[in-house]
Amino acid sequence: MATIAPSSPEKPTASTPVRTVLERGGYRYPPGLRRNLPFYLFSRFFRANNPILLFEYLQKQYGSVSHYRLGPNHIVFLNDPELIREVLVTQAASFIKERTQRRMKILLGEGLITSEGEVHMRQRRIAAPAFHRQRIAAYGDMMTARAATMREEWQPGVEIDAVAEMMRLALQVVARTIFDTDVTEDVQTINTEVNAIMDLYNFLIALPKAEALLHLPIPGLMRFKEARRRLDAVVHRMIDQRRRSGEDRGDLLSMLLASRDTERDQSKLTDEQVRDEVTTIFLAGYETVANALAWTWLLLAENPRAEAKLHAELDTVLAGRLPTLADLPQLRYTEMVLSESMRLYPPAWAMGRQSTAVVELGPYRLPAGTYFFFSQYIMQRTPEYFPDPLRFEPERFTPEKKAARPKFAYFPFGGGNRQCIGESFAWMEAVLLTATLAQRWRLRMVPGQRVAVQPKITLRSKYPIRMVPELRA
Ligand code: HEM
Repeated sequence: MATIAPSSPEKPTASTPVRTVLERGGYRYPPGLRRNLPFYLFSRFFRANNPILLFEYLQKQYGSVSHYRLGPNHIVFLNDPELIREVLVTQAASFIKERTQRRMKILLGEGLITSEGEVHMRQRRIAAPAFHRQRIAAYGDMMTARAATMREEWQPGVEIDAVAEMMRLALQVVARTIFDTDVTEDVQTINTEVNAIMDLYNFLIALPKAEALLHLPIPGLMRFKEARRRLDAVVHRMIDQRRRSGEDRGDLLSMLLASRDTERDQSKLTDEQVRDEVTTIFLAGYETVANALAWTWLLLAENPRAEAKLHAELDTVLAGRLPTLADLPQLRYTEMVLSESMRLYPPAWAMGRQSTAVVELGPYRLPAGTYFFFSQYIMQRTPEYFPDPLRFEPERFTPEKKAARPKFAYFPFGGGNRQCIGESFAWMEAVLLTATLAQRWRLRMVPGQRVAVQPKITLRSKYPIRMVPELRA
């Protein structure tokens, strides 16, 4: 059964300026737009508030590598697994994230996602133990316990918003596990403020010099600042409480507060640095998983065959008891469902890098400073690697089928030295939460439910996903 219609790409028109490979100044640029990204294209895609439309357009029009200019900047869009590997892995030393992530710093400061070079390496070293396999094994029961509480709260026939519910759940899980903090009372504030931030985010990144404008009393920006301030208040309270108690709970927060820069001056992280890291991991750790889970409920409701297979697996493997970490190797189909869901709706829908040196990529030669973008959303819907791409088919993720595809045809967690630090955590969480909830409930879509994506920092649903829980017999 088909899932949803993709956001329809713009059809090229006779007036669309097209060109083939461009050789200039010793460089060889991929095919693409002849002039600067024309205003009419830009305005059309940004008015739709959906940058995926632009990527979709480039891929349909020019194939797997395309080029355009925006002001003085060269921008290359890649939709080829081997070239994506070149950027993220093979030639990673010639690329940085910094410029492509600058706007994210408005929200996240200098945390693991936005930092670069030595600072990044230090932050990764500090955070790594919190994500170590043995460490996250201890989180399994807490995850299941949270989902078990939620499944007691749902009522047959009483409508829920799957997005809001999954946000609530994933937020509590990340707070309780990685920061050993109970945020039950703050869930509402955090959700409201993050929603406000996400609503304004695309507006903000489209503004030139947004960082400087933040100091001016512009209404949209003031709301953004206010939301950030309220979020900061929650995070600073967590930090203060822990500092005051002086307790080492062995979680990431304690690790951050205790860490010293042993390579340099033994200095501790400042409160601002801890704030940046906590906010980064908080937001990266709950928004992504929550979106993945919400889309999964929608896809299961649309695909009864897959839903029945999932239920059969849960009944056989768990025989009515709650799942534990030890069950994960047996919950194969559950994992395949989640893999397929993140193929169609990847929570991180695009990534970017900027070259710091001249780069040879396939037949192309590109100057230092070129921006490169690639999109999980587009790549993972490419028929060459995923035939009949809009069909929801978890069987695409059998070990044999996975091995037959190039690695970067599917990369929901990125790759190379900036690969998601929370990947194992996320898989474990997604499987345990889905298994615990689906053991008891199936969710039915409310008739007339509208489905559309809204790409913000993560791939959100444009509308609430209204669903009705139905007790499994
Ligand atoms: C389904 C869930 C998730 C998805 C799809 C996802 C996706 C990603 C991707 C694509 C990147 C790489 C970005 C880039 O290289 O430009 C990334 C990085 C990161 N993720 Fe995740 N993530 C998920 C869950 C988590 C969780 C649960 C945590 C923490 C609790 C987390 C924390 C991070 C951090 C800190 C980074 C930056 C790593 C670095 O640059 O060294 N993520 N994630």
